[in-house]
Amino acid sequence: MRAVVYEGTRTVAVKNVPDPRIQAPTDAIVRITTTNICGSDLHMYEGRTSVENGKILGHENTGIVEEVGNAVGRVKAGDRVSVPFNIACGTCRNCVSGWTSYCLRTNPVEGTDGAAYGYANMGPYDGGQAEFLRVPYADFNLLELPPGREHENDFAMLSDIFPTGWHGTELAGMQPGDRVVVFGAGPVGLLAAHSAMIRGASEVFVVDKERDRLNLAQKIGATPVDFSRHDPVQQILDATGGRGADCGVEAVGYQAHDPGGEEHPELVLDNLVRSVRSTGGIGVVGVYVPQDPGAPTDQAKQGRIAFDYGTFFTKGQRMGTGQCPVMRYNRHLRDLIITGRAEPSFLVSHELPLDEAADGYAKFDSRQNGWTKVLLRP
Ligand SMILES: NC(=O)c1ccc[n+]([C@@H]2O[C@H](COP(=O)([O-])OP(=O)(O)OC[C@H]3O[C@@H](n4cnc5c(N)ncnc54)[C@H](O)[C@@H]3O)[C@@H](O)[C@H]2O)c1
Ligand SMILES: [Zn+2]
Ligand SMILES: [Zn+2]
Repeated sequence: MRAVVYEGTRTVAVKNVPDPRIQAPTDAIVRITTTNICGSDLHMYEGRTSVENGKILGHENTGIVEEVGNAVGRVKAGDRVSVPFNIACGTCRNCVSGWTSYCLRTNPVEGTDGAAYGYANMGPYDGGQAEFLRVPYADFNLLELPPGREHENDFAMLSDIFPTGWHGTELAGMQPGDRVVVFGAGPVGLLAAHSAMIRGASEVFVVDKERDRLNLAQKIGATPVDFSRHDPVQQILDATGGRGADCGVEAVGYQAHDPGGEEHPELVLDNLVRSVRSTGGIGVVGVYVPQDPGAPTDQAKQGRIAFDYGTFFTKGQRMGTGQCPVMRYNRHLRDLIITGRAEPSFLVSHELPLDEAADGYAKFDSRQNGWTKVLLRP
């Protein structure tokens, strides 16, 4: 089959690789209909992870079940499914309490809980930017979708970024009526903003510097804040009578940068501490890593991010972090799509054949104007 393979910094290629096959009776093989490029893939693309050359990328996968192992009984060949990016066993302590993003059994890497398709340090699993994908524990992991092609681009957001955006608002302890600030207008930030609106926010601020992304934020009813023009914190304080937002979402991650493009991994955390009111919650879904050899300081190379913890404590704020447990939300979010209450595909900008993946990566990576979210069609 054809698949997108990582071949070193800023190099991916679409190659012929062996088809995946059933390895355990609990596996299924899914024929991919849509697979997205994610901002998380860019951390690997930019050479800022330890991902090995030859890895098949892709963790945002949607498709049709092609084949199931002997022990799979709930899903069957022909079912249309969304594949959560987390690979979870369904029976360990973390899985049974709903934290499938921290499954204790699926990642053989010592000291790391939680596994994913096609990702650095997340286990030996191939990704789905390919024609076919092997899905472990298929009965547990796969989410059934209505048959046909309807809502394909909306459902394609269910494997990661719509649940992740929603999780950001959940970690922030968001309540109806809250004023919410979201840092980052990438796909995750935009869907955190969409989630906050659905959950009854009274106002949502979205901070970024990319004009096209801020325009999308405005289009869904959020207030855009351009951090390249003025201090974003001051803009939020001014807009909230000096009080600050009730809660905030971090949707940028460790490659946060200033308007000049220089990286400061603590910048967005500091801005959240300053722009969220005392006792407010902060949900961090942007990724931070324990080792980053490409980081700007020696401390940050070891994952030690010196943010303004003193003010954070003094303001009595709370912070939640980590990978999203997709299964906690994806059924409900699917139903919001079916009934028309949610339309996360508003940010999809490009739909490319799989063979054009290298171009898609390059354009999305340079945040080229208008390249907000790229879908690949194998
Ligand atoms: N926790 C999870 O489960 C999970 C899942 C998916 C993605 N992620 C992470 O979420 C983050 C965002 O993902 P994405 O796909 O939207 O990525 P993206 O790279 O497309 O978007 C990040 C945005 O942040 C903006 N930005 C940079 N510095 C900023 C600053 N100082 N202030 C405000 N905005 C700033 C950039 O201009 C960009 O538009 C990434 O770190 C990704 O790895 C986490
Ligand atoms: Zn993703
Ligand atoms: Zn588990």
